[in-house]
Amino acid sequence: MYIPKILFLSLFQLILLHLHLLLPPAAADPLYQICGSTGNYTANSTYQSNLNLILSSLAANASGGGAGFSEGTTGQTPNQVSGLALCRGDVNASACGSCLRSGTSDVLNICPYDRGAVIWYDECLIRYSNQHFLSSTDNSQQVYMWNTQNITYKPNVFDEMVTWFINTTAHQAVYNMTRRFATAEANYTAHISLYGLVQCVPDFTPADCWQCLQGLIGEMPKWFNGKQGGRILGVWCNLRYEVYSFFAGAPSLRLVLPAVSAPAPAPVVHTPVFVPAREEGKKKNVTATVLAIALPLATALVLVSAICICFWRKRSAIKQPLLYETTAEEIRSVDSLLIDLPTLRAATGNFDEVNKLGEGGFGAVYKGILHDGHEIAVKRLSTSSFFSSSIPCPELLDSLL
Ligand SMILES: *[C@@H]1O[C@H](CO)[C@@H](O)[C@H](O)[C@H]1NC(C)=O
Ligand SMILES: *[C@@H]1O[C@H](CO)[C@@H](O)[C@H](O)[C@H]1NC(C)=O
Ligand SMILES: *[C@@H]1O[C@H](CO)[C@@H](O)[C@H](O)[C@H]1NC(C)=O
Ligand SMILES: *[C@@H]1O[C@H](CO)[C@@H](O)[C@H](O)[C@H]1NC(C)=O
Ligand SMILES: *[C@@H]1O[C@H](CO)[C@@H](O)[C@H](O)[C@H]1NC(C)=O
Ligand SMILES: *[C@@H]1O[C@H](CO)[C@@H](O)[C@H](O)[C@H]1NC(C)=O
Ligand SMILES: *[C@@H]1O[C@H](CO)[C@@H](O)[C@H](O)[C@H]1NC(C)=O
Ligand SMILES: *[C@@H]1O[C@H](CO)[C@@H](O)[C@H](O)[C@H]1NC(C)=O
Repeated sequence: MYIPKILFLSLFQLILLHLHLLLPPAAADPLYQICGSTGNYTANSTYQSNLNLILSSLAANASGGGAGFSEGTTGQTPNQVSGLALCRGDVNASACGSCLRSGTSDVLNICPYDRGAVIWYDECLIRYSNQHFLSSTDNSQQVYMWNTQNITYKPNVFDEMVTWFINTTAHQAVYNMTRRFATAEANYTAHISLYGLVQCVPDFTPADCWQCLQGLIGEMPKWFNGKQGGRILGVWCNLRYEVYSFFAGAPSLRLVLPAVSAPAPAPVVHTPVFVPAREEGKKKNVTATVLAIALPLATALVLVSAICICFWRKRSAIKQPLLYETTAEEIRSVDSLLIDLPTLRAATGNFDEVNKLGEGGFGAVYKGILHDGHEIAVKRLSTSSFFSSSIPCPELLDSLL
């Protein structure tokens, strides 16, 4: 029973293979098209012959010479036709030509007798119109497409990275690439890579191209939140990103994504508490009691901590005076405790005996008044102590005095 089955399969495959060889390669389907709204032309009209003329010339000019781009106008008003053809920047001349040739014949069937149309393919774009769109930079005819798969690993971070990634690629395309086209690659995680592509028509000025791409980048958050890929197709510029490689050749940029910005502090969650009206008085009392206990406790804690920090700082300063200079973090936390010596001198009248409050185990305590009127008490370490004058440790005691 096996043999006939295998024979049947082989025969079937053979037929498929032959069909494949006999049929011309199927032209790629358009990604999208927008048929015009500027009226119809009639069969055999001057407009139609102008249109045919420009479409064939666009395809020939864009694929010849490796430009990948062509635009022009033919005929006289009211039968004048303007046209634009653009191939993706990484597509070679022969692939560009075949995309445009099949596209120009497709679009006449897809948008029959329309005076204008835009049609997007994966590898090329064709636009024509009876309007003079070539002199404008209006990119409002746009198509958004996205990969339906969501990114599961930190989608918010991913979105932020993608924006940075495409923006950086856009900067490269605009200012560093003569054809206003750039591709890029970056590692998001050890297992997820990012691939991006941005393009403007090559005859755009850097300023126009940058503005066009910024317009698209600004749209990204509206459409691509958490998506593994997305593209925005315009007439004058376009962009795309995916987590797989979709362009030919090596990327023009290999980027290292910026470090993830520090996570925002955990939001304060205000859990709504339902308190029945008749218990409100009771609740106030409870709150008052809690405050009565908690406030002094908290104050005491803060004071003890402050004193502990002062002691710790003194001790470690003596043992390891350079510790604070190792990281910015620690320098900052020390700064917030430190009032510099000149300020202390000014506040205490240069440690005037008049301001002396008493003598403690580590040295004398002086009363001082800061510029802002705060009363402080300053403990000056006894001069026999090694770090006495270089590391004063003021304790703000105005709450106690
Ligand atoms: C143009 O032709 C299409 C069909 O070919 C028709 O549906 C449409 O109404 C026409 N538009 C105008 C403005 O004549
Ligand atoms: C357009 O011209 C072709 C041949 O050139 C002809 O067969 C066709 O009937 C013409 N159509 C109209 C609407 O005149
Ligand atoms: C195509 O190139 C030819 C020869 O350089 C030129 O005359 C024609 O205007 C071009 N057409 C377009 C649409 O660019
Ligand atoms: C052009 O690119 C296509 C694939 O996109 C490839 O099959 C073809 O060999 C390339 N042609 C040349 C001349 O490099
Ligand atoms: C992706 O997430 C959206 C909502 O954020 C959800 O509607 C959609 O079904 C998800 N797609 C997949 C393939 O999981
Ligand atoms: C893109 O980068 C430019 C600087 O190169 C910056 O001004 C702009 O805000 C960035 N745009 C986004 C959406 O991040
Ligand atoms: C442009 O290229 C130069 C070197 O060719 C490089 O130093 C510079 O960073 C590039 N600029 C951008 C925006 O990529
Ligand atoms: C991504 O990581 C791989 C290996 O981990 C490395 O070979 C590759 O160069 C990296 N790509 C970029 C764009 O940094």
